[in-house]
Amino acid sequence: MTRDTTGLIGSFRRAGQGQVFAFFDRLPAESQARLLSEAAEIDLGEVDRLVRTLVAEGASRTVDLEGLSPAPYERLPSHGGDPAAWSRAKAAGETALRSGRVAAFTVAGGQGTRLGYDGPKGTFPVTPVLRRSLFQVFAWKILAAGRRFGRPLHWFIMTSHQNHAQTEAFFEEHGHFGLDRARVHFFRQGRMPAVDFSGKILLETEGSLALSPDGHGGSLRALERSGALDLMASEGIDTLSYFQVDNPLVRCVDAAFIGWHLTRGSEMSSKTVPKAYPEEKLGHFCVRGGELVVIEYSDLPLALQRERDPSTGALRYEAGSIAIHVIDREFIQRMARGADGLPFHRADKKISTVDADGREVRPGKANGVKFELFVFDALPSARRPVVVETSRADDFSPVKNAEGVDSPATCRADQLRQFARWIRSVGASVPTDSTGLPEAPLEVSPLFGYDEGSFAESWSRLGAKPAVADGLCLEAPPL
Ligand code: UTP
Repeated sequence: MTRDTTGLIGSFRRAGQGQVFAFFDRLPAESQARLLSEAAEIDLGEVDRLVRTLVAEGASRTVDLEGLSPAPYERLPSHGGDPAAWSRAKAAGETALRSGRVAAFTVAGGQGTRLGYDGPKGTFPVTPVLRRSLFQVFAWKILAAGRRFGRPLHWFIMTSHQNHAQTEAFFEEHGHFGLDRARVHFFRQGRMPAVDFSGKILLETEGSLALSPDGHGGSLRALERSGALDLMASEGIDTLSYFQVDNPLVRCVDAAFIGWHLTRGSEMSSKTVPKAYPEEKLGHFCVRGGELVVIEYSDLPLALQRERDPSTGALRYEAGSIAIHVIDREFIQRMARGADGLPFHRADKKISTVDADGREVRPGKANGVKFELFVFDALPSARRPVVVETSRADDFSPVKNAEGVDSPATCRADQLRQFARWIRSVGASVPTDSTGLPEAPLEVSPLFGYDEGSFAESWSRLGAKPAVADGLCLEAPPL
């Protein structure tokens, strides 16, 4: 038997979590060692606190809506915003990008259970014609932005224990998509044990714990723990452009958004789109007690979600959260080191486990609780947070589900519509249906154009303009 040098087993027993070692004596030595090392990751005090506050009977599951009001936000010029203020923001963002202060940051540690794809979600073939991966789309947008601003960007990618090796191997296999590999940084997020409804830590097998990633909010402490923040400081990076791995439309580094963040002296800024309809499953930017908060769709009563402004007819709580942020490095440090950190949320899930005899159990309904941190919970602690409107068609079409809304099919269609709009904007004709979906297959490499402006520049440099009617793939123009 492996020696329990740290007294770990005793501490689990004293905490009422002795079941974790129920099969320990019959495990081979290497499994014992693995279980001990997983157990050593667990903060038993934290688990106990979470069980008392989130799982125990009587634990409050309601969100405080007292004094809630919709959050103000900076509107796009096309929606009543001040064009001059937007131009100033864009110029400030461009200056920051030229000076190398900004890095891209992707959270890619999720489990992607709804999509049901086998492999890290970032490797999912997402583009409509060439089936390029999510990671390739981001990599090329980041490469293109680095070329445009004359400063190659650093890119930080948060993985999970489960997908870390596969993610690194994918980048390796693709030559880091032409990026300088010394500027692509992978680090793992933390993980948390799942518990049953009585608060007992679950085993996944006789010799391993049911551990899962600690949520995208875990990114703040993982950035700190991994040394990524120190690296940023040494590289003169003070601003992180945060986005999720599932949204290929995202402007990975958006000068105007970065500029709003910097000129306002914001510590954490957020993009918003007006909700398409009241029941749309987006979080809502709100103000509570003078602080900016995101209230999830499941926590805001439907009556409030449906409320409209009597004069304009717009939804009162229209500012939807699309999980795109700019975050200040020192703020992340403060949040990661601060005593109160982010609050955990409870998610009831089906968790594969073992029964008292060690037999595998695959539950048909939720049998336990996972604990997750959400990055937007940092907003109330941020100084001068700013919310900035963006156009959904140019920034947001996530791949979440295998079918239906937010699926590969809807995302491909949104990419096609975007390519068709860009091609139209330079005066070429593109046959489309009434929703703007082109009739022929189109794909634009992010190295040709990653937004309307860069697309138009590359297009203007083409000698003979290509025909569009039968389909078109535009690759990188010669440098
Ligand atoms: P989602 O909330 O969509 O979760 O993540 P998910 O795990 O990817 O998918 P489901 O719910 O199992 O279907 C939103 C973003 O946050 C990242 C994901 O990778 C995605 O970019 N994320 C989520 C993490 O990086 N870590 C986590 O622990 C959770």
